[in-house]
Amino acid sequence: MRQSLVIANWKLNGDLELVNFMVSALASESYTADVVICPPAPYLSALQQRTQNTELAVGGQNCSSFQQGAYTGEISASMLKEVGCEYVLVGHSERRSLFAEDDQVVASKLVAAQEAGLTAVLCVGESLTQREAGQTMSVVKQQLLSALQNADLNRLVVAYEPVWAIGTGMTASPEQAQEVHQEIRALLATIDAQQAQKISLLYGGSVKADNAEIIFAQEDIDGGLIGGASLVAEQFRAICSAV
Ligand code: G3P
Repeated sequence: MRQSLVIANWKLNGDLELVNFMVSALASESYTADVVICPPAPYLSALQQRTQNTELAVGGQNCSSFQQGAYTGEISASMLKEVGCEYVLVGHSERRSLFAEDDQVVASKLVAAQEAGLTAVLCVGESLTQREAGQTMSVVKQQLLSALQNADLNRLVVAYEPVWAIGTGMTASPEQAQEVHQEIRALLATIDAQQAQKISLLYGGSVKADNAEIIFAQEDIDGGLIGGASLVAEQFRAICSAV
């Protein structure tokens, strides 16, 4: 039995008011899934304080591959850990495409995160051009296996986010999503067959209250990584309850 998980990725959105509002909106209910909120880094401490004594967990959206030193603007994984994070996203498509993070950078961030004691949420997914060219599985395989070269599979979650579905309102069909998730689990099994059955695999890309249930019902989908809908309390609460 795998742990179901729903992660809110606020991206570059939100403020202290949203932190307070979301915690009170979410904390009053109890969920089968673990629920994690990843706000922008300046709000992590406030979120951690507000979520004490609740079932909500806190995560970072990004971390440095460096541990310390002269790296202006970077935030280390151990700093995230110290302010209460349990999770951190690595390899999100926006980091890959807008901030030039290649597979090597993603792999080193993943190791840094795990060494600091965080669970790394590795994001993978193909662009529309790659899907249309029939390259979905090869792109996902490359992103996955290159990132996991030195990884600890005990501290890993994988999120499949087709780039064409992110923020577009175009969700992958449950069958399309399941097909890729099944393949991801099979690839993980080539590294460690037993552990592959235990790793939570999340789907991300235009998940909303009205499509969450059917997506989460797929055999290899254990929850979601939610962008836009995680900023709206009723939407996100319904998504958390749909697992
Ligand atoms: O990381 C979550 C994400 O990229 C999906 O965003 O807005 O399509 O739910 P959204």
